[in-house]
Amino acid sequence: MIRTQSFTPFDGQKPGTSGLRKKTRVFMQPHYLEAFVQAIFAAIGGAAGKTFVIGGDGRFYNDRAVQIILRMAAAQGASRAIVGQGGLLSTPAASHLIRLNKTDGGIILSASHNPGGVEEDFGIKFNMANGGPAPEAVTEAMYAATKTQTEYTTLEAADLDLNRIGTVSLGDMVVQIVDPVADYASLMESLFDFPAMRARFAAGFTMRFDAMCAITGPYARDILENRLGAAKGTVTHGTPLPDFGGMHPDPNPTWAHELMDEMMGPAAPDFGAASDGDGDRNMVVGRGAYVSPSDSLAVLAANAHLAPGYAAGLKGIARSMPTSAAADRVAQAMGLACFETPTGWKFFGNLLDAGRCTICGEESFGTGSDHVREKDGLWAVLLWLNILAVRGQSVAEILAEHWAKYGRNYYSRHDFEAIESAKADAMMAALRAKLASLPGTQVQGMQIKAADDFAYTDPVDGSVSQNQGVRIIFADDSRIVYRLSGTGTQGATLRVYLERYQPGPEGLHLDPQEALAPIIAAAHDLAQITPHTGRSAPDVIT
Ligand code: G1P
Ligand code: ZN
Repeated sequence: MIRTQSFTPFDGQKPGTSGLRKKTRVFMQPHYLEAFVQAIFAAIGGAAGKTFVIGGDGRFYNDRAVQIILRMAAAQGASRAIVGQGGLLSTPAASHLIRLNKTDGGIILSASHNPGGVEEDFGIKFNMANGGPAPEAVTEAMYAATKTQTEYTTLEAADLDLNRIGTVSLGDMVVQIVDPVADYASLMESLFDFPAMRARFAAGFTMRFDAMCAITGPYARDILENRLGAAKGTVTHGTPLPDFGGMHPDPNPTWAHELMDEMMGPAAPDFGAASDGDGDRNMVVGRGAYVSPSDSLAVLAANAHLAPGYAAGLKGIARSMPTSAAADRVAQAMGLACFETPTGWKFFGNLLDAGRCTICGEESFGTGSDHVREKDGLWAVLLWLNILAVRGQSVAEILAEHWAKYGRNYYSRHDFEAIESAKADAMMAALRAKLASLPGTQVQGMQIKAADDFAYTDPVDGSVSQNQGVRIIFADDSRIVYRLSGTGTQGATLRVYLERYQPGPEGLHLDPQEALAPIIAAAHDLAQITPHTGRSAPDVIT
């Protein structure tokens, strides 16, 4: 039986860069999730006759949310839902299922790398038929709908047993409960040289994959341990838990410190990697050799042809503006187009759909390609493994050769978290006000060549995005970028991105913080970070 439920609209259901993210308890209020799901359906012209992929990263409330969404979709005439077993799907796997089954889109439950649990974060986002995040016009339509809608319909029905793979019906809607891993693993097998990787593991290659108690555990176990023959136990924290076992599933040296300690220690395996809550981010580490995400993008682009799926070569490379120019040097050497986009994965979608680029990445531990329309953590790990297997070298050797050939873009990001918003805004305003006067002046003995606020014109649809981050560029192309985070939940987070190019052959193996010391000092001088914010040191360094 279909029931119509009325409710009072909720304030603040405005989707951010990656859907609607709130404290879990906010989502658990009566009708809160339903109101937003109704807004999604409104923004896409209703659910009737449509097919959706539904799943999430397994965090607290994932299981309840999937049942709620299924009942609403069924009541509103959706014809079919494809759901991951147990309600689980990684973000890249959901993107793949949307494309593979040519569905009308998908609803993903996740708050990415934010902690999970009843007192932590929950989120929901809608991906379009191309598998990518809903563009701004659609998320704005969702937000508009949240302000006006006062009722939704849902089916009165018991919960489905989502643990049993198979096809069931819910009202008139067909629900296909699928193995969350199988299709994704086949896609990976079609892209990478599994026999070469299997041979390398058989020859004693060792690896650690830290799934951080989040969604990639089952994917990594199946692909690395079962299909590629990595030793059992290679995957740690491999069972997705509603609170991620209390871990902060953000794969960077700060939060994946267990992995970092092991990789820098005496008994380090050959290769280490970690992924985030919903499986779209990655960190890779060699024995004693941390790979910065910007370098990872460059190395992957330079070597992608070693993987069967990319043997025909790349169409182009794209990176977000704050990501280092290491990938640009590869693009230049290979005669490929290189795109510099604003921060956020959505800007890559148009380039990928138009066939203008194949590989893209961000300094924030996100790398991906045209195989899906999200960044993809395990994909990056497997491409690294493919390259390591074919080249037969260590991560450290590959990095050293890369820098010797292209030079090294020393890089670091300094985050100053939970600053009072008014202070952060005042600092940025003061910095913007003096940009025009900076070129030609000196700071810390370095000459400033250019200073601007990054603006982007999308080469595919011509849309313009202004104010995407302040750039200070020095005579030797060293660079400082300042921007305020668009995903933070408490006050403002100031991100300062620091880069210095060292052409080599000398000075290619310094500690990045030492190599960047004058740039860091200049960053503080120019923006007057301490006087404005009271902070003299960053909270997180990556
Ligand atoms: C952060 C990252 C950005 C990424 C986004 C979503 O956004 O910096 O690269 O696309 O998360 O994963 P920010 O908080 O900087 O706005
Ligand atoms: Zn994520």
